[in-house]
Amino acid sequence: NIYENGMLRNQFPTVTTNPNKLEQQARDSMEAKGFNFIFGGAGEHATMDANRLAFRQWKLIPRMLLPTSQRDLSVTLFGIEYSTPVLFAPVGAHCVFHADGECGVAEVAADLDITYIHSTAATASIEDAARANGNGPRWFQLYWPQNDEITLSLLNRASRSGYSTLVITLDTWSLGWRPANLDGGFVPFIKGVGDQAGFSDPVFRQQFKKNYGVEVEEDIISAAAEWNKDIFSGQAHTWEQLEFIKSHWSGPIVVKGIQHVDDARMALKMGMDGIIVSNHGGRQVDGALGSLEALPEIVHAVGKDMTVLFDSGVRTGADIIKALCLGAKGVLIGRPWVYGLGICGKAGAKEVMMGLLADFDQTLGLTGIRSISQCNRSILRRITYGG
Ligand code: FNR
Repeated sequence: NIYENGMLRNQFPTVTTNPNKLEQQARDSMEAKGFNFIFGGAGEHATMDANRLAFRQWKLIPRMLLPTSQRDLSVTLFGIEYSTPVLFAPVGAHCVFHADGECGVAEVAADLDITYIHSTAATASIEDAARANGNGPRWFQLYWPQNDEITLSLLNRASRSGYSTLVITLDTWSLGWRPANLDGGFVPFIKGVGDQAGFSDPVFRQQFKKNYGVEVEEDIISAAAEWNKDIFSGQAHTWEQLEFIKSHWSGPIVVKGIQHVDDARMALKMGMDGIIVSNHGGRQVDGALGSLEALPEIVHAVGKDMTVLFDSGVRTGADIIKALCLGAKGVLIGRPWVYGLGICGKAGAKEVMMGLLADFDQTLGLTGIRSISQCNRSILRRITYGG
């Protein structure tokens, strides 16, 4: 349809389909603070660059004359069938990028039947996003608070609101050193404050009132500082403390931010159902490995015993296929649709994800793949000359 509209009707997409131009279009359309928060990685962006270079090191080897015109993109994760292995990555602070916010994205996710993952740092409440998502598939991402009562409150609310799977992000117990935000400022925990996953939490509100003598709305700055302190405390939990979460969450649990094989093994040992191999889009440790580099050895170590998902640096359909061929069972998309959201709201996020899915589907067919289970190393080659 995109081809037909462009070639025959002179109708072009609002958001560019060129992954290399998307960032610039967002920069041109958005307020600097919002754009910088999406764009900004840690340090000198060495890991962000490595995330892309890692994809360039692998090349697909297409097969011809195979019956691939009818394709089945469905996958089963934790016993549930999903129509595609692609997921929306958890991303906080949507209202800073566009007023459509998390509810707009949750609605788009349901329309496209792609899993929506609600962030603890969202600017919409857990309940409102669930309502907007309706019958769509949804997971909840936990930034693990220091305060157990708040943790339990978030888990209960997510469970009551129909979020099936819990994602615990391990790599952001303290925010990374992100010059674009440090220099340019950034206000996500203040805009849209009343609706936030955290600020709307009854336990957080109660404790805030007890300690400060006022409602959250009456002293937003202190509330934001308290909330940040609790979820980005600068103090990590321990592997053993995952027992606590396990005893309070009945669905599957996935830990996000795994890059080291030994951590993948620890996650398995602690009884996690899955891991997300991710470096948070190069936003945490600059100089860390490109995320795709870590994937093969982790799949080799634990892939038979637990579900391995992947993110960081995925920009094209071919990237999704490469990650699947290297053993990922699902692939999370971050910045691209967030830029779409910033450019023109939920319609932009939708265009980007539809485009990416179409590219993925088309490229699968052209590579000679009919179903996701056919993605394997036999159609990949590692090329070390770069480029
Ligand atoms: C994120 N990411 C993230 N992860 C998470 O677990 N909770 C969160 O609230 C956020 N928030 C967030 C905001 C923004 C603006 C970005 C870009 C990213 C990380 C995200 O889930 C994912 O790991 C990365 O986006 C993957 O990297 P790329 O592909 O976007 O470069």
